[in-house]
Amino acid sequence: MLVGNETHDDAGVYLLDDSRALVHTVDFLTPVVDDPYIYGQVAAVNSLSDIYAMGATPLSALNLLAVPDGVLSPQVIGQMLRGGQSILELAETALIGGHSIDDPEPKMGYAVTGIVHPDKIWRNSTAQPGDRLFLSKPIGSGVVIKAIKDGDATGEIANAAVAMMTTLNRYAKEALEAASTPTAVTDVTGFGLLGHAWEMALGAGVEIHLSALSVPLLPGAWELAQSNKFPAGSRRNLDYVRPHLASTDIEEWFLTLLTDAVTSGGLLFTIKAEDEGEVRQSFHDRNLPLYAIGHVASAQAPKLVVSR
Ligand code: CO
Ligand code: CO
Repeated sequence: MLVGNETHDDAGVYLLDDSRALVHTVDFLTPVVDDPYIYGQVAAVNSLSDIYAMGATPLSALNLLAVPDGVLSPQVIGQMLRGGQSILELAETALIGGHSIDDPEPKMGYAVTGIVHPDKIWRNSTAQPGDRLFLSKPIGSGVVIKAIKDGDATGEIANAAVAMMTTLNRYAKEALEAASTPTAVTDVTGFGLLGHAWEMALGAGVEIHLSALSVPLLPGAWELAQSNKFPAGSRRNLDYVRPHLASTDIEEWFLTLLTDAVTSGGLLFTIKAEDEGEVRQSFHDRNLPLYAIGHVASAQAPKLVVSR
């Protein structure tokens, strides 16, 4: 075993031989949107994300499906599976089986196996003082998904969130590996930006400094956050990171937005300062967004420092 659960990394890694290690991860979600095809797509993108966050290439996937017997039609279930399959094809990942159960609340996801060279594993716990911190997708999907469910989101706001959640991190992973050896990588999901940044800080024993106003947001997220319409998980995330958080001049709703639970978020990574130009160029050449949101500093004790 090369990577286990100690540093809450994105996936487990098991050494096969000198040049190959297997990467294992599993993830599933309750519905994020009404459209079954899009739900299936988001479930697949989200499940593959941890493979890319380890610097690995996905090989095969097993489907996990929980659906209420006799409530969802076979057509709707077929749409969910076809949505997922469309993403597995983009990821060049073979569906090799799965399992379904009867459940009053639908759930869908995949257990994914990937492969990586044992010297090229990207961990979440290896950031170094002086590194620059980047994020590849906007945050705010928790507050936006809640608004979609409550009927408070316009079509434009919903479409932007769907576009974010259905974008594979494959592209960001390839842009990053072409330009640099990142010092640490994770993906932003249920613990929110600050929750995952805290795991990076804790694992490496460093301070992570974030500039709040440079964090990219989905359309609508800022306004919804100001009216405090967060899902419960986002507040729990803030409670979890607050003991390790130093912040100045940041309103409570803004901090909650920074811990908003994310579905299918982007890669959060650190690189050496001297690699910044090449990494920016690589993302730019591929027409991919990339946001500089902070840096890493040495610490007596691991900490998150958030300024406006
Ligand atoms: Co992850
Ligand atoms: Co995960």
